[in-house]
Amino acid sequence: MERTLIILKPDTVQRGLCGQIVGRFEAKGLKLAAMKLMKISRELAERHYAPHKGKPFYPGLINYITAGPVVVLVLEGLNAIAVSRKMMGATFGFNAEPGTIRGDLGVSKTFNLIHGSDAPESAATEIALYFKADELLGYERQSDRWTYDTSGGEPQ
Ligand code: RTP
Ligand code: MG
Repeated sequence: MERTLIILKPDTVQRGLCGQIVGRFEAKGLKLAAMKLMKISRELAERHYAPHKGKPFYPGLINYITAGPVVVLVLEGLNAIAVSRKMMGATFGFNAEPGTIRGDLGVSKTFNLIHGSDAPESAATEIALYFKADELLGYERQSDRWTYDTSGGEPQ
């Protein structure tokens, strides 16, 4: 099982879209391991987006992600990183495929609603930026045995 960090960005909170986006992930079968509403400080934003420092869009990106409250969550599941990235869609709303979160809910280039970790290494780094180890909960859901096929031992 894999974990990924998701941020519902300030535009998602302001537009009242948090519930339906979390609902999409839940309906898919991904499990919530942590979730909170918070305001990202400039210092935290600069740590999170350090890989983009120096790019032309970097100052705007820092302003955007710190502009208002965000919802930060950790999702757990088989291939959670790739699955959630696919559900998010292409980076910019105007060319994200219909059926994806960005494709269905936004049309802006830079106000793109959501962040999701892009690899296991960045997921581990990003999760540690936002959550203490004891805030990540591992637990059984009643639905787990019908979310995955465990007849062969490992969840499939
Ligand atoms: P994210 O990191 O937020 O999940 O998005 P992503 O992987 O799809 O996109 P990435 O290339 O990592 O870019 C990070 C964020 O920077 C903003 N951006 N603006 N104006 C631009 O050309 C531009 N390019 C990227 C977006 O907010 C993007 O989500
Ligand atoms: Mg990215």
